[in-house]
Amino acid sequence: MSDDLQKATTQGKINDFEKKSQTLKLMGGEKQIKKQHESNKLTARERLDLFFDEGTFQEVQLFVQHRSTLFGLDKKEIPSDGVITGFGKVNGRIVFTAAQDFTSSGGSLGEMHAKKIWKVMDMAIAAQKPFVAINDSGGARIQEGVPSLEGYGGIFYRNTIASGYIPQVTAIMGPTAGGAVYSPALADWVFMVKGSSYMYITGPDVIKAVIGEEVTHDELGGAVAHATKSGVCHFVTENDTDCIEKIKTLLSYVPDCCHSPLPLADCTDSAERICEDLDTIIPDKGNRVYDMKKIIKFIADNGEVFELHELWAQNIIVAFIRIMGKPVGVIANNPRFTAGILDVNASDKAARFIRFCDAFNIPLLTFTDVPGYMPGTNQEWAGIIRHGAKLLHAYSEATVPKITVITRKAYGGAYIGMCSKQLGADYVMAWPTAEIAVMGAEGACNIIYRIEISAAKDPAAKRSDLVAAYEEKFNNPYFAASLGIIEEIIAPRDTRKRIIALLDALKDKRETRVSKKHNNIPL
Ligand code: HXC
Repeated sequence: MSDDLQKATTQGKINDFEKKSQTLKLMGGEKQIKKQHESNKLTARERLDLFFDEGTFQEVQLFVQHRSTLFGLDKKEIPSDGVITGFGKVNGRIVFTAAQDFTSSGGSLGEMHAKKIWKVMDMAIAAQKPFVAINDSGGARIQEGVPSLEGYGGIFYRNTIASGYIPQVTAIMGPTAGGAVYSPALADWVFMVKGSSYMYITGPDVIKAVIGEEVTHDELGGAVAHATKSGVCHFVTENDTDCIEKIKTLLSYVPDCCHSPLPLADCTDSAERICEDLDTIIPDKGNRVYDMKKIIKFIADNGEVFELHELWAQNIIVAFIRIMGKPVGVIANNPRFTAGILDVNASDKAARFIRFCDAFNIPLLTFTDVPGYMPGTNQEWAGIIRHGAKLLHAYSEATVPKITVITRKAYGGAYIGMCSKQLGADYVMAWPTAEIAVMGAEGACNIIYRIEISAAKDPAAKRSDLVAAYEEKFNNPYFAASLGIIEEIIAPRDTRKRIIALLDALKDKRETRVSKKHNNIPL
């Protein structure tokens, strides 16, 4: 063959390859793309274009095809088998992804679709980089049957192997039904889009047929339902673009892997900054509310707070901030909701966050203002004992630097639960407004002085005197400080400076534990 002929043949093959690639990259084609846009959804490729730094996305296994011959699938082409997989850079850092594309046979998951996802998950684990899944799928490919279920099983297994090793994020950007919901549930963070995403084990039709209950897709498993009622969703986003942007922000706080250094941001805030407003933030009366989020904002570099799980269990706040450019995980009771009391959901929310931070070496900063555990049959029967134990377990097991600031109430067992010294806090500080006691003065006096109060000529006056005496003794931080239960009493305005100094002092902290297979956290 002459050189010219050889060149022409090669060029022909390249042209053919490029044409095939372009066709495949259109996934379900123009008609399906139009339908996707009409549902207020971007296609998987458009989502990835927004997600990755320009020109960095590298697709993996574009040419994979299904091999099922059942129920007419032998005649059906499903471009890229309904999922785009690959890796690229997000703000300069490598991230692996699998994005289901609803335009290609509803993003349904068959054998080869699953194997594509397995491949990038395996690569992410081997490369020690985050994995982000974008779900938009009708679920198991009904025509393929059992291989689809196998496919899900392999994803769940990999989610579990990757847990605590690399950060895993799932964005629900369309339907996610049946057992398919368990990959998001096994990931660290779940994002949902208002109005266009839903998740449930069984949909409205099955629910109506089996138990006669009528409910819409959105009421049952929409973003708001899962963010406020079930706690399955950590972030409600307005649309696909907002969702992608928020995932990028989250990734900016987490390392690539549990063995990687924390991502550092340029810090333009001052290490010497005094927060004078904090001196007046605690109200005079113990039962008045104040804004714990303001405290976190004052402490954070440039007042930037990235709150997670914002709409669920609002009596506790979990958030990422940066201190001198380094990520820190914040856990804080929120006096604005049920006085910041600990209940089943608050315990779950905080425990899961603490374990994430510990797994990825993010220091923990706890702000305590907790009146106790929520009383009542509702909570007891919902298992506050079991769930509350998760919080104790998570804090005790965490070996990252742990700093606690008691702003006001620190009562009873709930005080212990909020990263007290005995749960391994490295340093506990209290503001002069702190009240560290077994319980509130009223409740305590009603118990220990019951006989004296009822026998008194003026029981109300007697109770008031006894309460004042109890408050004098315990409604302050000094008794605890005298016993070394807390390290320091500090002026609120100095909190940021103190935290900066402590994080610096503790940055090389190492804590070894007894050797074992793994903990058995109460679940
Ligand atoms: C095969 C599917 C599919 C599926 C959708 N499609 N879901 N193909 N298996 N599970 C295909 C449709 O046939 C159609 O193909 C295309 O995707 C678009 O679907 P439409 O129905 O036209 O879209 P829409 O009207 O928007 O409705 C979306 C939907 C609906 C509500 C998700 O498609 C639906 O109900 N799908 C089935 C959902 C389901 O029951 N899944 C199984 C769940 S159980 P064409 O060729 O016409 O474009 C499960 C078990 C997992 O997943 C267990 C894990 C352990």
